[in-house]
Amino acid sequence: MSEHPSTPASSRPLADWSATQYLKFANQRNRPIKDLLAQIPLTNPRRIVDLGCGPGNSTQALIERYPAAETIYGLDSSPDMLAKARASLPHIQFVRGDLSTWTPGLEEGGVDLLFSNAVFHWLQPDPVSHMARLLEASRSGTVLALQVPDNYLEPSHVAMRETAASPGPWSAVLAPLKPALDPMPSPRVIYERLSGLCALGGLDVWHTFYYHVLDGPEEIVEWVKGSGLRPFIDPLDKGAREEFLRKYTERIAEVYPRMEDGKVLLRYPRLFVVAVRK
Ligand SMILES: C[S@@+](CC[C@H](N)C(=O)[O-])C[C@H]1O[C@@H](n2cnc3c(N)ncnc32)[C@H](O)[C@@H]1O
Repeated sequence: MSEHPSTPASSRPLADWSATQYLKFANQRNRPIKDLLAQIPLTNPRRIVDLGCGPGNSTQALIERYPAAETIYGLDSSPDMLAKARASLPHIQFVRGDLSTWTPGLEEGGVDLLFSNAVFHWLQPDPVSHMARLLEASRSGTVLALQVPDNYLEPSHVAMRETAASPGPWSAVLAPLKPALDPMPSPRVIYERLSGLCALGGLDVWHTFYYHVLDGPEEIVEWVKGSGLRPFIDPLDKGAREEFLRKYTERIAEVYPRMEDGKVLLRYPRLFVVAVRK
């Protein structure tokens, strides 16, 4: 499989990911990895790629699920995530590259499992076109298994857009940027675009709603700071970022009221796709 030159995931002025921030909620973030793995119709895939491997948590889960695999390697565009992944799993190859231009490399025999947890929603503006592109480039029997957050309409994400649209020291920077990711297409749209590429009965699309019990609104903010809030706060200078976070946290406290035990409940819808190439 060939290494592709690194190019940024988008033209937005994003800082690099922070593996440390992302892993603050590793337990909760790892759960959909296990739920996705449980639905993959392969008992002994030989060659596996973890697309958008991040700090290596999903790669670790792949190693545990498929200990007999010949090759498991991780692809990611983030230097910080790759450094963490290499430190955690020194025996695994991690490659820096851009998933939006990467292809499976059929000349080397192809890949049995293309796995991707919490990545495809970053492939804007049309994540499903990349699912189709990867399936088209794969040989018969390859499984593409992926999960993405589907929280465009959740209060956490509505509040990001509301805060960005309200006047503040962030306005001049954020106004031309469109920091929000587009919503994921519906399961029906995904089905209609991918089913022609898949084996009969080989396309499974579903949602799972997780409910994460967190200590308070500040924890919700900490969570999204490691992922969906990045395009809103990364472009801001320190003062504007602090003010944005203060206003956003206030809003989060309103839309996620504390429960009787003082905790808050973060509803987190996730969309899963398992596709078997025909
Ligand atoms: C939310 S993290 C997911 C990490 C890991 N897969 C997991 O299950 O927790 C998203 C990862 O996708 C990577 N990513 C986003 N866009 C990418 C692209 N175009 N090419 C390669 N990696 C990308 C980011 O660098 C980040 O490490």
